[in-house]
This record gives sequence, structure tokens and C-alpha cells, in this order.
Amino acid sequence: MINKLIIIGASGHGKVAADCAQASRRFSNIHFLDQAYPKQKHNAHWEVIGHADDVANYIASDTLFFVAIGNNAIRARVSAELHALHCSFATLIHPSAQVSKHSEVGVGSLICANATVNIASKIGQGAIINTASSVDHDCEIGDFVHIAPGAHLAGNVTVEEQSFIGIGSAIIQGCTVGRHSVVGAGSTVLANIASHLVVAGSPAKKVNNNN
Ligand SMILES: CC(C)(COP(=O)(O)OP(=O)(O)OC[C@H]1O[C@@H](n2cnc3c(N)ncnc32)[C@H](O)[C@@H]1OP(=O)(O)O)[C@@H](O)C(=O)NCCC(=O)NCCS
Repeated sequence: MINKLIIIGASGHGKVAADCAQASRRFSNIHFLDQAYPKQKHNAHWEVIGHADDVANYIASDTLFFVAIGNNAIRARVSAELHALHCSFATLIHPSAQVSKHSEVGVGSLICANATVNIASKIGQGAIINTASSVDHDCEIGDFVHIAPGAHLAGNVTVEEQSFIGIGSAIIQGCTVGRHSVVGAGSTVLANIASHLVVAGSPAKKVNNNN
């Protein structure tokens, strides 16, 4: 069955998700709900048809939902609200992404154009594997993690829930980034990173707490 898709969040990230969904040819139509409705009625080529608080009005057997909110904590919260309403979630994988058939991608996740998920890796729920990033073999990516564009994870890397790996950064094999941590843009992670930290630089060092 070809489903309808409703995307929550008509932002720049939302239009990337819509583009990915359209490229996948799995949906008969794609619409947005957003807090900015009725002021905002369009996001690129797609219509914003309602307010994000009115999700319940759009639940139907042929409709899947996708939460396109870049902020990990907000995406997790909104996804929990949709789960409580028994919404069915879409998982979006761009046709140019290379996702090993021997890997797992959790429901509600987005695998963007030219991203790679290699063999035996596991991506949690509601994660973002952004444009041209790579997750190599045997990695564990937690729920609501965001791997930003062009970030590269070597084999056996673990990124725990709701952490953010900045654009163009690199993580060497076997490292763990704890939950709710941030790796700054262009950083090189050479050792485990504890939870609730902001690290940056090469090698990456603590620059702040992330509470
Ligand atoms: C790391 C980051 C989150 C900032 O964190 P922050 O806690 O607000 O840190 P600050 O901006 O206060 O900077 C603290 C220090 O870290 C340094 N720093 C910040 N980001 C850095 C980076 N990416 N690489 C190296 N050093 C960095 C700052 O220069 C500053 O150094 P100083 O104390 O010597 O002046 C941000 O700079 C960053 O890199 N964000 C990622 C953006 C990204 O990937 N976007 C993609 C969106 S899809």
C-alpha cells in the first residue's frame, strides 16, 4: 500500500526529510504540520496543512508520521507524544544512501542522501544520519542521536541517546560518546567522551557541560 506522509516540523530539516521521502517514491502525498500554521502555509514544494498540536486529526490507517525536528531533545519529546497517540511512524532512507542489509535502522529515523550505514551497525529510533555522513561496521547509534553532515564514525563506535556529532567530525574505532553529549564541528574524537559534555577540537577536549 502507498501511504500518505505527514511530517511534523516545516523547517529546513523538514524539507530535507520531505525531499528524501519524495525520492523514496513510497508516499502518495507529503504534507507538513507545524507550530507556525496558519502563518506558514508552505515549506519548499510541500503544503503545511495544519498545526503541530492537531496531530490527532490526521491519524488514519493509510497515514504515516515523521518528526523532522533537528533538536534531539525536542524530537524525542514530540515522538513520545505521537507514540502516546498510537501514530504509525515512517523511517526515511534516501535512495542514494548505502545501508547494509545486515544493519538495523530504528523506526522514525532519517538516513539522508549519500550517507552510509555499514554492516552490523544498529541505528536507534528517531536518529538522523545526515548527508554524506558514515557509520562504519558494528556501530551502535542510540535513539534520537544526530550524526551531522560529513561526520565519519569508524568501526565499533557507540553514540548514546540524544548525542550530537558535529558536521565534518571524525570518531576513531571503538570510542563511546556518552548520552546527551555534543561533539563540535570538525573535531577528532580519539578517546571515550562522558555523558552531558560538549567537546571540540582535534583531539576533542571538553569545552563545556551539556545539561
Ligand atoms: C561546539 C559547539 C556546539 C559550541 O559549544 P559551546 O558550548 O556553545 O561552546 P562555545 O561556543 O562557548 O566555545 C567554547 C570554546 O570552544 C571552542 N570551540 C567551539 N566550537 C569549536 C569547534 N567546532 N572546534 C574547535 N573549537 C571549538 C571555542 O572557540 C571556545 O574556545 P575558547 O574558550 O578558547 O574561546 C559549536 O561550536 C559547534 O561546533 N557546533 C556544531 C555545529 C554543527 O555541526 N552544525 C551542523 C548542523 S546540521
